[in-house]
Amino acid sequence: MSKKPLILGIESSCDETAASIISENDLGNPVVLSNIVSSQVDVHKEFGGVVPELAARSHMEKIDWIVKKAIDDSGINIKELDAVASTAGPGLIVCLSVGLSFGKAFAASLNKPFIAVNHLEGHALSPKLNSELSYPYLLLLISGGHSQYLCVKNLGEYKRLGTTIDDAIGEAFDKTAKLLDIEFPGGPQIEILAKKGNPSKYDLPKPIFNKGGCNLSFAGLKTAVLKIVKKIKTDQEKFDLAASFQKTIIEILNKKTKIAFKEFEKHVNTKEKKFVVAGGVAANKEIRKMLVKVCEEENYKPIFPPIEFCGDNAAMIAMVGLERYKLKKFNKLDYPAKPRWPLDEDAVFLKGAGVKL
Ligand code: KG4
Ligand code: ZN
Repeated sequence: MSKKPLILGIESSCDETAASIISENDLGNPVVLSNIVSSQVDVHKEFGGVVPELAARSHMEKIDWIVKKAIDDSGINIKELDAVASTAGPGLIVCLSVGLSFGKAFAASLNKPFIAVNHLEGHALSPKLNSELSYPYLLLLISGGHSQYLCVKNLGEYKRLGTTIDDAIGEAFDKTAKLLDIEFPGGPQIEILAKKGNPSKYDLPKPIFNKGGCNLSFAGLKTAVLKIVKKIKTDQEKFDLAASFQKTIIEILNKKTKIAFKEFEKHVNTKEKKFVVAGGVAANKEIRKMLVKVCEEENYKPIFPPIEFCGDNAAMIAMVGLERYKLKKFNKLDYPAKPRWPLDEDAVFLKGAGVKL
């Protein structure tokens, strides 16, 4: 029996320091041998958001023992590793540099190949960690920094179909939470509070709902929430606003996803139409429920990563590393950290005032 590849993944693009070892079983499916994630929520809580300098410092303090723990938990000997994959972007440059430099040094010391991974590609491939998923597929990537519909044609081959023209969806959740005086990161808390509220209480705007194809916009929503927050007096009103906000997001994604399906079908001809939803916001159960229903109506197969692989983690980075390792797609040790690194490098930049849709 031939040796199965063993890949170390390292992630430090924002406020999670993470390391993971993955391999394959006899059927060629990925197996996660260890997955260590250390969140910095407590470091940034008092500031209400991620402070880059503090985040980088925290990555530096933790990276050694997190990688060591990932190796110890996996039960492997480091000499058995076949490649080291680190996130090289997009993200905060001071944070990226920690995991990227560590990964390069580790690979060099073991004399093993190094693989520079796009964090967004990690999210895109995250469902492969527990389910069979072949190319092509439609991806909705919803995280704290990104909101995009992408046609995933193959490893490293992306066509962007739609993107947010202002805030990312996770950012909208976090900003709304902040206005409601909910501790950072507020996205998951909004989901909890929304359960106790009346989603029809407040009528919130749905920017570019009837134009712009499957592009998205959430900034106007935040402004509307701000106006209502000023008048709120009771906890019940707070729950109602959380519920109304989440319902509005759901209505926007419902409509835009149907448009994205049509766009996707213009680009690929596939018998089994697959819809992957990934990124931190994919953990939201109400959003999942609605997207599953849309898939049933439109004859798509819905695919979500397990909740533990929705947020930032290193198993998804190792997953990209595994696919790249099998194709011998390695990188040199001078590969730079890339704060901006879109999956579809040919897509037009669509942010800021004066954007034409
Ligand atoms: O993918 P991720 O962990 O980090 C980025 O790459 O950005 O996503 C984090 C985002 C945060 O904005 C967080 O508030 C949001 O995902 N999030 C949620 C939920 N869980 C995490 N938003 C809504 N509902 C949730 N259950
Ligand atoms: Zn992420």
